[in-house]
Amino acid sequence: ALDIARQRARRRGLEDKITWVRASLLDLPDSGLGPFDYINCSGVLHHLDSPADGLAALTSVLKDDGALGLMLYGRYGRTGVYQMQQLMRLINHGEHRSRAMVENTKEVLASLPNTNWLKRTPTLIGEKDQLDDAEIFDIFLHAKDRPYSVLEVYDLLDRENLHLVEFLYEERAMYDYQFAFRGEGLQRQVARLPRRYQQAAAELFWGTLDRHKFWASRHTDTTADARDPQNVPVFSKLAESIGMPESIVTTVNSSSLVWRPSIDARHGMTISFNLELNDVNRQLVRLIDGRHTMGEIVRTITSGADSPTADENVWNLCCETLESLRKFDFVVLHHESVPGIDKL
Ligand SMILES: C[S@@+](CC[C@H](N)C(=O)[O-])C[C@H]1O[C@@H](n2cnc3c(N)ncnc32)[C@H](O)[C@@H]1O
Repeated sequence: ALDIARQRARRRGLEDKITWVRASLLDLPDSGLGPFDYINCSGVLHHLDSPADGLAALTSVLKDDGALGLMLYGRYGRTGVYQMQQLMRLINHGEHRSRAMVENTKEVLASLPNTNWLKRTPTLIGEKDQLDDAEIFDIFLHAKDRPYSVLEVYDLLDRENLHLVEFLYEERAMYDYQFAFRGEGLQRQVARLPRRYQQAAAELFWGTLDRHKFWASRHTDTTADARDPQNVPVFSKLAESIGMPESIVTTVNSSSLVWRPSIDARHGMTISFNLELNDVNRQLVRLIDGRHTMGEIVRTITSGADSPTADENVWNLCCETLESLRKFDFVVLHHESVPGIDKL
């Protein structure tokens, strides 16, 4: 893994800028490393004997205002995988040769009936014909693999007094009860619940969340503030990859009153939302270039307006629009003092 990471860093000219250490994350507390602003730990904690000890070790080297980016396997979305793991433990009982275990797994995979849970969730492992031996071992024969429901994710974080900031990117919609429950009555019921139970309800509704990707921090107010005049809005790589900036700029340049994008999220889900267009957000969208700050953008929009309330009004309309665009990280904010991250 370290060799591959080094190769990737080399390709980007970053190898010498990184301190490379080969050690268990459990040794971090006494390592002399850190404290860190940001710790990324994707797909690792659920393979440890004690994920809680792993998280404690990571948190011990996190700055007070730092953040963690974590990925943990999802309990319900991976139901088919865990049934397959159980099945292969039965079949491979007494067999210790990895090659034979993988061959047995391939044979079972090739003959699964449509009633099998793995077959019922084809999105779970994508095109499983294309899995190589290492992937088959990792998914179906892993000896240590402990999944998490949304509530179990929160329990794990509670032990370290960590706050779940947000789930990541467009998948955030899958945790949003308003996308799951469309009727007003149901929405009212679920709205009464604390956030973690709202998200748990959405998880149970979809049933397909096979991994939880999220940010965590010690503080609850770590999200960048669109009202900070020194923050710079920028369309994210995610937005660019689906052609969103062009789509919204084309729409605001036309006479349309509403921008209505729809995005193909994972698990065959389509997210769509409406953004009502007005004189202010038509300009805002054109001014988002990853260089100009919110203060500069608002000044540009208000220049020419002579009403004393114009400034506050423009700030409000800009923040409303950014809230919609930031909901799924289509637009992100960075402080003008932070260089070189204009394409997160
Ligand atoms: C499923 S892989 C995830 C790899 C990578 N983070 C990614 O997203 O592709 C799990 C990784 O966890 C690493 N790992 C397992 N136990 C560890 C520990 N105690 N400390 C650090 N890494 C560990 C393994 O070496 C393996 O590379």
